[in-house]
Amino acid sequence: MKPTDIHTILIPGSGPIVIGQAAEFDYSGTQAVKALRSLGHRIVLVNSNPATIMTDPDIADATYIEPLTPEALEAIIEKEKPDVMLPTVGGQTGLNLAMILSERGVLAKHGVKLIGASLTAIKAAEDRLLFRETMKEHGLPIPEGGPAYNFAEAQEIAAQAGYPLLVRASFAMGGTGASWVYQPEELGEAIRKGIAASPIGQAWIEQSILGWKEYELEVMRDAADNFVVVCSIENLDPMGIHTGDSITVAPAQTLTDREYQRMRSLARQVMSAVGVETGGANVQFAVDPVDGRIVIIEMNPRVSRSSALASKATGFPIAKIAALVAAGYTLDQITNDITGVTKAAFEPSIDYVVVKIPRWAFEKFQGVDPTLGPQMKSVGEVLALGRTFPEALQKAVQSLEIGVDALDGSGPKREPIAYTLDELCLPRAERLFKVYCAIEDGVAL
Ligand SMILES: Nc1ncnc2c1ncn2[C@@H]1O[C@H](COP(=O)(O)OP(=O)(O)O)[C@@H](O)[C@H]1O
Ligand SMILES: [Mg+2]
Repeated sequence: MKPTDIHTILIPGSGPIVIGQAAEFDYSGTQAVKALRSLGHRIVLVNSNPATIMTDPDIADATYIEPLTPEALEAIIEKEKPDVMLPTVGGQTGLNLAMILSERGVLAKHGVKLIGASLTAIKAAEDRLLFRETMKEHGLPIPEGGPAYNFAEAQEIAAQAGYPLLVRASFAMGGTGASWVYQPEELGEAIRKGIAASPIGQAWIEQSILGWKEYELEVMRDAADNFVVVCSIENLDPMGIHTGDSITVAPAQTLTDREYQRMRSLARQVMSAVGVETGGANVQFAVDPVDGRIVIIEMNPRVSRSSALASKATGFPIAKIAALVAAGYTLDQITNDITGVTKAAFEPSIDYVVVKIPRWAFEKFQGVDPTLGPQMKSVGEVLALGRTFPEALQKAVQSLEIGVDALDGSGPKREPIAYTLDELCLPRAERLFKVYCAIEDGVAL
């Protein structure tokens, strides 16, 4: 669609603040609304959460504080008659709403087009099975695995993929119903748990690549097929710990140029295969530390938690630019905010290091297992910039507000830290402090 064909744009926000979907989507939504509005488009915003910046009266042209349900959205569509809906800046909630409204034919009935991501692209990225098939079809590397509705099917997949396995509940939030399966005897229990936690009674089984290095690329594509990597992010915590619970570093620190270039081309191919024609996406990868083999973990065809981080790290406002390319502008038409001269088609490069450390609040959640895993448990994060990795890491530790102002051998509340080798293997919130002591003590890595 050409920008001139678009008058009114409907944008859903992400609703209540929950683990995995917090203030970053207020930030991205607000950026998108402001950018599109400044170019003369009329913005209709819907969010059930009034405690956001985006719902301030002067941000959008019309703001609805209504439940984020298909029924409420249809009523708003009838009244406001938007030309298009931009569902990619309101987190998972925005995408889910777009999917339901498309499938029920509501968008077609009212002549509303989806911009930023089509129904096909959203489904190909969100449905693990469809994503798998799409990747296979295009010869793109993914871990072995598949869905199972019963034990017999699970055994078949397990035989193909080999142990250890990661078993999760399909179509459940985050990593609900997840377990690691090291031996065939443990499979039955894991499948029962996965099936029980899944709304469609399906367990998702995957070859476990626990311990591989984990990466994310924040990428952007426009309608003229210009493609940029905005930022590469390396997780200090390897595969097995959710990116939202990992200490992350930008730009990636331990990739060879070959590995990085391969990841870059793969990200581009994933975007085309899934069918994201315009907008931003987040592609997650795992790299075998032994031989550098790369597999694709998942892709989010929308602005994500990591794109807020990447925007702050690089100064490249991902949500703003994703909104503009979705509306039909091309990257070479958009000026880079930082330089004021170059265009958004240039890939940002940074000569400093950015470190994110998640912030947990297990003391507020009685009975929750504080061990970190494939389901996100953090409630916030701190971000620090430094000339070097140690400088950025130290600044981030200082910002955590857990009563420790440096990584110097003491722990939270400045209490002395003790560790055993077993504890170093156990991913918990305080592991960073224990690992630091172990390195100081000369424990072999
Ligand atoms: N095959 C696997 N083996 C080991 N760990 C995995 C595997 N797949 C995913 N994970 C871990 O689980 C986390 C969440 O998985 P992901 O597929 O990204 O789902 P989500 O939609 O919750 O982000 C990842 O960040 C990674 O650490
Ligand atoms: Mg993920």
